[in-house]
Parts: sequence; structure tokens; C-alpha cells
Amino acid sequence: MKIIRTVEELKSVVGALKAEGKSVGLVPTMGALHDGHVSLMEKARGDNDVVVVSVFVNPTQFNNPDDLRTYPRTEEADCARMRDAGVDIAFIPSVEEIYPEPDNRVFDLGKVAEVMEGAMRPGHFNGVAQIVSKLFRMVEPTRAYFGEKDFQQIAVIRRMVEIEGFKNLEIVDCPIKREADGLALSSRNVRLTPHQREIAPNIHRIMVESLDKARDCSVEEVKRSVIDAVNAYPEMDVEYYEIVNAADMQPITDWSQASQAVGCITVYLGDVRLIDNIKYTI
Ligand code: PAJ
Repeated sequence: MKIIRTVEELKSVVGALKAEGKSVGLVPTMGALHDGHVSLMEKARGDNDVVVVSVFVNPTQFNNPDDLRTYPRTEEADCARMRDAGVDIAFIPSVEEIYPEPDNRVFDLGKVAEVMEGAMRPGHFNGVAQIVSKLFRMVEPTRAYFGEKDFQQIAVIRRMVEIEGFKNLEIVDCPIKREADGLALSSRNVRLTPHQREIAPNIHRIMVESLDKARDCSVEEVKRSVIDAVNAYPEMDVEYYEIVNAADMQPITDWSQASQAVGCITVYLGDVRLIDNIKYTI
């Protein structure tokens, strides 16, 4: 595995491989890699001749300076995981390398970015669009891989691709990777106390149990039952539970409004903010 730290070298190495007709899969990450990230790398490995993984804690997508400061940085362990996953190129740039000058671009992301994470974390998705558009321009990947764990993020990236007019690029959605007890893998899970870690899988359990209710209950009733069941744990506090149309991320009030309805939750366990989602089939 080649570790590259400059944009210049990245462009020249990847450019040469593309000139040989090789397909390139890109997996953007912020490091602190876990098996969820690795599942994206494995998918990319199967689909492409060359796999590039970027590891960059992108400051412009953090609306909370403390969150940026305390974000785990584990380069050595990350490199070992990337090597094991058969990654060809690890792109690990500095902030100055990516943002030699401030990025003032404001993307017109529209309604997919206005709800849920967009409403709770102002500026977050604009920062995601900034970094991912830069990475797409540097690598010009054949395919780029994103996890459904961040379901709304994928919709935002598709919108950014439309705005920027990236062609010959496939955005590949990858399923959520979970612990055996159902908890979605996240870099934040290590911050849970043993007790919090023990009750955290109830989030997924409660959402799974709500799938059955969807047949007989209204959207509102299902939402209410999930929120109440999670909040029944004194340690857990639901920030939002929205059931949205996967096509445009807009909350629905009737099951008939979505061909694919997705329930998206964020829950605070102490000061750890967990996110998860589930697909309803009616
Ligand atoms: P990060 O949180 O590091 O996640 C990198 C990718 O891994 C994202 O596409 C995310 O959805 C995916 N991922 C995380 N946990 C997962 C899980 N349990 N199962 C499957 N996929 C999972 O998302 C970001 O970084 C950043 O916003 C980024 C896109 C890199 C832009 O900075």
C-alpha cells in the first residue's frame, strides 16, 4: 500500500493508473477506521482495479469545535486496517494540503439537506459537499463508496454530483455494518461507558420491532412508539426520529407517500450522539 500525502502526487499516481485503463474505487473516510469502513473497502476491492481510501478529518463539516478537536486520530492502526483490506493507495493529507485557502463555496443542496442532520448541524452538509467534491476532482474515481449508516449524507452527495456535473462516476451505497447485538458500528461507540454500551443495541431492536407495527399503524403512531420506547431508557434521549421518503429525504405522513420509507434516528447516550436508520417495507 502506498501512502500519499500531497494532492500533486495523488493526481500523478492515480492519473497514470487511469491512463492504463484501470478502474478506480474511492472510499472517503475520516479515519478511526472500524469494520464498517472496512466493508466499504472490501466492496471497492471487489469492483475495481485500484482502491483509494482517503483519511482526512475534514474541519469544514464540524459545526462543533470540541467535536473536531476530540475526533479520534489513529493513523497507524488505520494504515494496518487499510493494508489488511487490500487498499492500494491511502491518501492522508494535511488540512493545509486540502485547504491552502479557505473554501467559501456554498452549495445549493436544496431540500435533501434541510431536514434532520441538516437542521440539527448547520453547515455540516455544505462541508461534506466541499471535501467530497474536492476528492472527486483529485481522484476522478470510477466509483465512490458511501455507507447507508449516514443515509442522508448519500442523498446530499448525489445532489452535489448533480450540481457539479460529475460524469462517469457511480455512487455506490453500502449496507450498515452492525455488531452482533445490532448496534451500528461507529467511531463514537468507543466513547460509550460499559453501561451505555450495554443498552445502546436497544435502539436498533426497537426500530426492528417497529417494522411489524407499520402494517397496522399510521406513520405518526410508529414514530411515537419508537421515540417513547427509546426514551423509556433514562440514559437515552431521542433527538429526532423521522420517517422519510428515501427518494428525497422528506418526512412522510402516510405510508403511500414513499416507495421506500426509511426511519432515521439520532439518540444521545450521555454526550455521545448515535445515529441509525431502518427501511420499512409496507
Ligand atoms: P466517516 O464517518 O469516517 O465515514 C466514512 C464512510 O463510512 C461513510 O460513507 C459512512 O457512512 C461509512 N460508515 C460508517 N459507519 C458505517 C457502518 N457501520 N456501516 C457501513 N458504513 C459505515 O462520513 C464521513 O466519514 C465523512 O462525512 C466523509 C464522507 C468522509 C466526508 O468527510
